[in-house]
Parts: sequence; C-alpha cells; structure tokens
Amino acid sequence: MSTSLSSVPGFERLSGIPLYVPGKPIQEVQRELGLSRIVKLASNENPWGPTEAVKARVTSVVAGSEFEGLGLYPVSDGYYLRKRIAERKSLTVDRVVLGNGSSEILEMIAKAAFPGGGSAVIPRHSFAIYGIATQTAGGRVIESRASAAELDVDDILRAVAEDTRLVYLGHPNNPTGIRLERTALERLVRNLREDIVLVVDQAYAEYEDPTEYPDAAAYLDQRPNLLVLHTFSKIHALAAMRIGYGLGSRELMGLLERVRSPFNTNHLAQAAAEVAVQDLAFEAFSRLKNTEARTTFVLEAAKHRCQLSGTSGNFVLLESAFPAAELFKELLQRGVIVRPMQGYGLPNHIRVTFGKPEEMQAFWNAAGPLLDGSC
Ligand SMILES: Cc1ncc(COP(=O)(O)O)c(C=O)c1O
Repeated sequence: MSTSLSSVPGFERLSGIPLYVPGKPIQEVQRELGLSRIVKLASNENPWGPTEAVKARVTSVVAGSEFEGLGLYPVSDGYYLRKRIAERKSLTVDRVVLGNGSSEILEMIAKAAFPGGGSAVIPRHSFAIYGIATQTAGGRVIESRASAAELDVDDILRAVAEDTRLVYLGHPNNPTGIRLERTALERLVRNLREDIVLVVDQAYAEYEDPTEYPDAAAYLDQRPNLLVLHTFSKIHALAAMRIGYGLGSRELMGLLERVRSPFNTNHLAQAAAEVAVQDLAFEAFSRLKNTEARTTFVLEAAKHRCQLSGTSGNFVLLESAFPAAELFKELLQRGVIVRPMQGYGLPNHIRVTFGKPEEMQAFWNAAGPLLDGSC
C-alpha cells in the first residue's frame, strides 16, 4: 500500500514553506573542495571570543560538582541566568524568558500566536526565521515595504490586517544592516494596534553605540504586547551553545512559559551565558573591533566602487554586478565563505561578516580581482 504524507491533514502545507539555509560550515567546504585554509564570514559570529573566563566556567561544568554536571538535568527555566540578565536590564526575573537561541523564542511566540490562523507583518528583506516560524505555526505572512537602505514604519502600520497577531522588526535588521531612529521606533510602538504583539529582534543591538541606540526595552512598561529579543550568538560569541533571551511583560512571559519546552536551554549554555552577560569589557572590545573592521571595509569597498547598504551590525551587504550565487561560488573556490542573499529578495547582494583583520584581508584578496569592474 502506498502512503503519502501530503495526504495527512496539515502536512501538505509544510512542504510549501521555505527551508532555512544556514551559512556553510568550514568542515563542509574542506570536505567538498579539499581546501585547507578557509575563512568563514557567513553567519555573523564574533571571531574574538568566547573569553577565557567563559571557557573556564564551561570546563568547570564538565568537571561536575554536587550541583552541576553533564549527568544532571539543567535548571529547567534557567533561573540563575535569567536573574543575571534581569539585573543587567533592571527588570524582575519574571520578565525574562530563555530560548535555545533567540530563534527558538521566535518559534515560541509564533506557536502562541497562530493556532487559529492569523497573520504576521514582516518587512521585506528580514531574517528568514520570522516567516518560517509564522508559517510553520499556521500563520500567514504579510510583507511590508522596505528597501536595502530603509525600513518603512508607515508601511508596516498600513500592512496590518484585521487578523494580524504579530509584527516582526529586526533592529538592526539582518541582512540590510539598517535600524530605526528613535522617533520612528516610537511611532511604531505607540501606533501599532494594542492587540498585536510587536517582536523587536535586537540580536545585533550590542554592536550599536549605546549612547545613540534606541533600545526597544525602554517601552516595555508602556506596551504589554512587546517582546524584545537578544542572543548570545553574536557579540557574546556563543553561537555553538544555542542560547538567547526575550524580555517582556510578566503576562506575556507567563504565556511563553506555557509554550516553552522544559529544559530547552542546556546547562553548559546557561553557565557560559551567565559569565558572558556580565562581561561589559568584552562587549566594548568586540564593538570597537567591529567598528574598526567596518571602517577598513568601507574604504576598501570604495576603491572597488562597490555599493554597501546599512551601517549597523557586524556585517555588511555588498551589491555587485554578479548574481549572488555566482559570486558566492567563486569566493568559495578561493576559500572564503560568505552568504548569498538571493533567498532574501536581493539577487545581486552578498552579506559579509566582519572578521579579524587577516580574515578581511583574505576576503579582499579573493574578492578584489573579481569585483574590479563588476561592482
Ligand atoms: C536578526 C537575527 N535574529 C536572530 C538570530 C538568531 O540567533 P540565535 O538563534 O543564534 O540566537 C539571528 C542569527 O543570525 C539574526 O540574524
């Protein structure tokens, strides 16, 4: 008897949802191309960490003690890490939720919002998981207008439909590297219908100048339907650990607790993040290194007459005359992994993460001759 999964109610819908395509891992390129020296500038990781203090803490967990070790379940809700985060953000611990990466919190909020259908408004050229989480949870995507250079708050507000439950905003946005000014963010927070949860994804916020950055957490007390997300994968350099956090009202956090899987964040990740979240010096150092890398990149790009978009985050979007997939392949052959952006509606753009100076040099050694005359 032949069976078809697509005949199972609900399954057919899933095959139409785009698959998330991650940055290509170094090992895979080594295996496929037999190259020994490979530079990965594809997933917006921080090349400067994690710190020795974080590594020492992880090692002590592995060594084990009466309270912790690999044989014991982790603290299910990550209370001790949430407490550290709450202290840093001047909030109470019941206003913090943890996820297996902030991606999991994007899934949690979608799981909470769309069981009975409904829609999410997502600006064009946003992080792919917003749309994937919405659709897998049973929601519909409404794309609002945005270019590689500008987010359009008025269009987000106009795009809202009667059944809209969530609005997602990358702030700064990946892959465009743009963010809203304070007045525009305020306009969105104040004018968005109250029965819609505004999800402000601040995965790259720590790369911004703290004296200028409009942190959406400032509006948490004004808007109960606001979820602000952060991750330990970017400036905290813990991408392999898979841990991120969300901030919101007590009520919203209480609801997310109901869709959170028990033990969703592991003990190694909680322990590492507890150290990382307190290390302001490492954050400042990484921010400085990122700014230096950006400055050098902009100068080099100008020599090749390349167009760049956005000035936020630890990455840059570069436009060339090449189709993105082709440029990606050419660079791969030369041992440099970047991210082609055709899947984000940007057919001629690649995204390049700012690495260490020697990694950026490797990028320009490979890309320079290709881009001359093609930028
Ligand atoms: C805008 C944005 N949000 C969230 C994430 C997810 O981060 P993680 O799941 O590793 O915490 C990323 C990762 O690239 C991102 O670019």
